[in-house]
Amino acid sequence: MGDALRVALAGLGTVGGGVIRLLDTNRDLITRRAGRPIEIVAVSARDRTKDRGVDLSRFAWVDDTASLASYPDADVVVELIGGSDGPALTLARTALDAGRGFVTANKAMLAHHGLELAQKAEAANAALKFEAAVAGGIPVIKGLREGAAANAIARVYGILNGTCNFILSKMEAEGRDFAEVLAEAQALGYAEADPSFDIDGVDAAHKLSILAAIAFGTQPAFGDVAIGGVRHVLAADIAQAASLGYRVRLVGVAEEGAGGLFQRVHPHLVPLDHPLAHVTGSTNAVVAEGNFVGRLLFQGAGAGDGPTASAVVADLIDIARGEYGASFAMPAHELIPAGKADSGERRGRAYLRFTVQDKVGVLAEIAAAMRDAGVSIESLIQRGEAADGGVMIAIVTHEGPERAVAQALERLRGSQSLVGQPLLMHILG
Ligand SMILES: NC(=O)c1ccc[n+]([C@@H]2O[C@H](COP(=O)([O-])OP(=O)(O)OC[C@H]3O[C@@H](n4cnc5c(N)ncnc54)[C@H](OP(=O)(O)O)[C@@H]3O)[C@@H](O)[C@H]2O)c1
Repeated sequence: MGDALRVALAGLGTVGGGVIRLLDTNRDLITRRAGRPIEIVAVSARDRTKDRGVDLSRFAWVDDTASLASYPDADVVVELIGGSDGPALTLARTALDAGRGFVTANKAMLAHHGLELAQKAEAANAALKFEAAVAGGIPVIKGLREGAAANAIARVYGILNGTCNFILSKMEAEGRDFAEVLAEAQALGYAEADPSFDIDGVDAAHKLSILAAIAFGTQPAFGDVAIGGVRHVLAADIAQAASLGYRVRLVGVAEEGAGGLFQRVHPHLVPLDHPLAHVTGSTNAVVAEGNFVGRLLFQGAGAGDGPTASAVVADLIDIARGEYGASFAMPAHELIPAGKADSGERRGRAYLRFTVQDKVGVLAEIAAAMRDAGVSIESLIQRGEAADGGVMIAIVTHEGPERAVAQALERLRGSQSLVGQPLLMHILG
């Protein structure tokens, strides 16, 4: 049995507490699997007096979180604070510069600073691991970095935010509107007090940019992700989608396109015969299409103390075994700039919902805008129900360039016939 892997742990909230509990519960098994014990030696958070439901008296408490990076004899720093910059980033930089291994669940930091941190890790020959940063407990990074490493990946996509999926599933099951279900999700602890990162698609975009870098061998390019959230999806949209044979899901998609990588997080209509349509509640799922392996589906809990701690400790076990490679599946200097694909060139089908005034000529105006922009309509459904004081019209387009749909919406911008903003959802092909 080798010497213990000594861990300095920053952040003792949901995930940090879970890591301590997991290491306590599975201590013997983990020691046998890792070939050596994994021991927390020092911890840090903001409030020393907070009861966290775990015994912290056996660990050294460090007030100055940044100093964990140089805690004597610590081999690895685990960062479970969060935030793209601030104390998490300071800790990451100083720990890696000091040659310590670094494990994090912090997708925001990796989306913004992943390349720099990977370069630092390589320069110091230190481990940088972040399985928990994408899809919580699902070993999707390991799956892509290792299991699917022999493949060229054509497309990676999935349900990357459990809060949105919980809300959309509940809206569908109970026919309730977004605001009401969000409030309930907050009361149940499934959504943050400030839910904007989740419901506006930013959290999923952080994760997508990390996955894309690993899948395509590109530098993480969070700024290139087109981001849309679920705030404006109505119960009526979900009901309409269901009557057409679809479920509404917030899906992040990354694929190679014209002039670079195409990356987008947006509400999609997912056909009922697609596995993502059956991912309900706070579950996450990721699909990767490899040129030799075919379609891979990873599914499981995308958040929560247990699943996220499972991923963090799996990274620690890899480090304890000395089995860690390049963070983004290849050396940082091999990662190429992603470039940004022109989404207008991308072909697909779309769902468009308009709320319109109940008056003569409105349908003709919308149909004319579609025709003039070159959008071919597959079906147009007018529902008598009043929504926002108007009548709802839903259109499903035939496959065509996304540019045409954008142009049709542009033509209708400011139209006196529309009540509020139209909603566009792409149809997962
Ligand atoms: N929760 C999940 O299910 C989940 C899933 C995947 C990834 N993640 C990621 O995991 C990370 C941690 O998430 P969490 O849910 O565990 O967060 P959390 O429950 O809010 O815990 C954050 C911890 O960081 C500490 N902290 C905050 N600011 C600090 C500062 N300036 N200096 C030192 N410590 C500070 C807090 O200290 P006090 O307790 O003293 O206030 C707390 O212990 C985030 O990056 C998150 O995105 C979370």
